[in-house]
Amino acid sequence: SPAGSATAMTRVLPADMTERGKCPFDPAPGLERRRGDGAVQPLTLLNGARAVLVTGFEEARAVLADPRFSSDRVRHRDASQLQPHEVAEMAAAAERGEAPAGTGVESRTDGMFVFMDPPEHTRLRRLLTGQFTVRRMKALEARLTEIAVEHIEAMQARGTEADLVAAYALPIPSLMICELLGVDYADREEFQANTAIALNINSGDEERARAGAALYGFIQRLVNEKRENPTDDLLSGLVHDSDPPLTDAQLVDMALVLLGAGHETTANMLGLGTLALLENPDQLAALRADPTLIDNTVEELLRYLSIVQLGVTRVAIKDVTVGGVDIPAGTTVVIAMPESNRDPRQFRDADRLDVHRHRTPHLAFGHGVHQCLGQQLARIEMRIGFSELLTRLPNLRLAVPAEEVPLRNDMQIFGVHALPVTWA
Ligand code: HEM
Repeated sequence: SPAGSATAMTRVLPADMTERGKCPFDPAPGLERRRGDGAVQPLTLLNGARAVLVTGFEEARAVLADPRFSSDRVRHRDASQLQPHEVAEMAAAAERGEAPAGTGVESRTDGMFVFMDPPEHTRLRRLLTGQFTVRRMKALEARLTEIAVEHIEAMQARGTEADLVAAYALPIPSLMICELLGVDYADREEFQANTAIALNINSGDEERARAGAALYGFIQRLVNEKRENPTDDLLSGLVHDSDPPLTDAQLVDMALVLLGAGHETTANMLGLGTLALLENPDQLAALRADPTLIDNTVEELLRYLSIVQLGVTRVAIKDVTVGGVDIPAGTTVVIAMPESNRDPRQFRDADRLDVHRHRTPHLAFGHGVHQCLGQQLARIEMRIGFSELLTRLPNLRLAVPAEEVPLRNDMQIFGVHALPVTWA
């Protein structure tokens, strides 16, 4: 699964690359130090495999735009999936001048297009972009405002304190995915509960597998329903308008990609983003004084927080030179998103959160053919999510000292586990 593969990479990264320093928003100091060793540099993973780390903005863009770097972790196993003895065997093979082992595997998932290369990726992705219509996004915008307001009113009805993650940041993207896929209101609780367990790497293996299987069955039933009774949602569109038609396995996989990619990301941007604004009162005041800064603020938070962290990787399928460094075929490349998005050659005063920052491209949504498919939706979710929160709760502040906010240091996608706030 996408979550599983991301977790595998997290497990083999040296600790200095992930252990945060005092500021919860800054990249790990060890990662920051590594920047000094170059925009493209060798990286030894904990399983002994040799990889490459990219810390520069232009270099990261070059990798992500280059078809010689593959997203297909099934056909070209990335270095995180190798056992130490396989790493040694591969090194010996390389010394004998043989091709890297572990490539050429034919088995693949049916519709996990985020882990495919063109042309298969192109075909599946295009079917989805055709469903992300302007009309559908506009309708979502209106519903999203309703959802945001309802959740704030529910928080207010319960008192003057809440965990913003559980009460607001998580339910918003979760309900939006339900709307998008056409999940019935009555079924939402089951859907949300299983999603929460399946996507949480702190769940036990067995518990997660059970929730994953339940979710798979749920989406399979949903596909069957949309086949018989199409409604005006993205999944019905995929079932009925795809030419040639998609198989059930492809449809379920594609729905699962949307679910996984669209859930934890936006939720963590809302949670960590709110903390970043509260901890930068001058920036928050500037935004409150001029609400038209919201679009700028969203882009700046995406850049500054780079929550996907070290989660974007590729495997070289040809020998490639990037930033003057030779990368042999078979090498896994890890993009250091927090570093690339704070590259001083690209961003002035890069370590500062600045809601007035002149809009410049960032890499938070990736780049190239896999660039985030849900970015317009994510932007609407953040724009409305932050705006409604800040206007309806003008006294919003932390209910605990900032050092006590539990950070997702253990997670592939960075953020906060909980955000106790008050608005009294
Ligand atoms: C891909 C980030 C929200 C759906 C990506 C990638 C990044 C990213 C970095 C590229 C991965 C790669 O190249 O390997 C984010 C962030 C989000 C967000 C930071 C929130 C703030 C969403 C939402 C959805 C979504 C709301 C959907 C409903 C997808 C999909 C892909 C993707 C389907 C795969 C695209 C492909 O492989 O062609 N996202 N995302 N994302 N995202 Fe997002």
